[in-house]
Amino acid sequence: MANNLLKGKKGIIFGALDQNSIAWKVAEFAHAEGASFTLTNAPIALRMGEINKLAETCKTIVIPADATSVEDLEKLFAQSTEHLGGKLDFVLHSIGMSPNVRKGKSYGDLNYEWFLKTLDISGLSFHKVMQVAEKLDAMNEWGSIVALSYIASQRVFPDYSDMAQAKALLESIARSYGERLGKLKKIRVNTISQSPTMTTAGSGVSGFDQFFSYADKMSPLGNASSEDCARYVVSLFSDYTRMVTMQNLFHDGGFSSMGISEALLK
Ligand SMILES: NC(=O)c1ccc[n+]([C@@H]2O[C@H](COP(=O)([O-])OP(=O)(O)OC[C@H]3O[C@@H](n4cnc5c(N)ncnc54)[C@H](O)[C@@H]3O)[C@@H](O)[C@H]2O)c1
Repeated sequence: MANNLLKGKKGIIFGALDQNSIAWKVAEFAHAEGASFTLTNAPIALRMGEINKLAETCKTIVIPADATSVEDLEKLFAQSTEHLGGKLDFVLHSIGMSPNVRKGKSYGDLNYEWFLKTLDISGLSFHKVMQVAEKLDAMNEWGSIVALSYIASQRVFPDYSDMAQAKALLESIARSYGERLGKLKKIRVNTISQSPTMTTAGSGVSGFDQFFSYADKMSPLGNASSEDCARYVVSLFSDYTRMVTMQNLFHDGGFSSMGISEALLK
């Protein structure tokens, strides 16, 4: 049931690793809605080769870029505008990784080099993406930039570890850069705080199955799926949300407003 919501719009989608990735679903929906875009991921993530299938479906190319490397990002934006034949209207930042979480470090025994990596990959990279886009003047007026976040930025979910700080950084960057790009070019910048979702990044957090089911029981609408998230992202890229900016938007079936639910008391 596509409606050409993104007809003629151009963009870059970061973070499609496999078909469970939120970015993968966004690419499928954005393609169905008439957008054209390039796909990108870290060189190491491209080795699996899965993303080539998505590129085929979406009739596009894959450009390798480590989102922590300004040089890679400069090449990515230059190649994308060239391939797409013009400036961009949207960017999706769907990137997250914590070596401390991956290696099961407890919060009282964090490796600080890894902590900085977590912040760089999952938070600071969002600033790098926007700074490169600004310097190359790669975006059109009334463009839309979205990054994905999680409620652990504001409430404590112990197993989320240093990713909580990375998401707090990400959301703060969205506000500060949203102000700047809004004034400069009427570009909006938002984060979506998404429900727990069964993906590689999601299920890397220990105890994920339990808190997936806890969040599902707490939320009146249940957990939002990656397909639901993709629809929401498309709406934020469309012209129907032009005045929404500098927000952290909860897309969580109501979870963030709940205290306790009947389902959890049973
Ligand atoms: N899955 C969840 O429960 C959940 C909930 C809320 C928010 N999110 C967020 O959604 C986003 C997408 O995650 P996902 O759940 O689709 O998992 P995913 O594992 O499919 O996606 C994470 C992506 O980040 C990419 N990445 C890692 N390091 C990178 C680097 N240096 N440069 C470029 N890309 C890099 C990975 O290759 C991967 O494609 C992340 O920001 C994640 O934190 C996920």
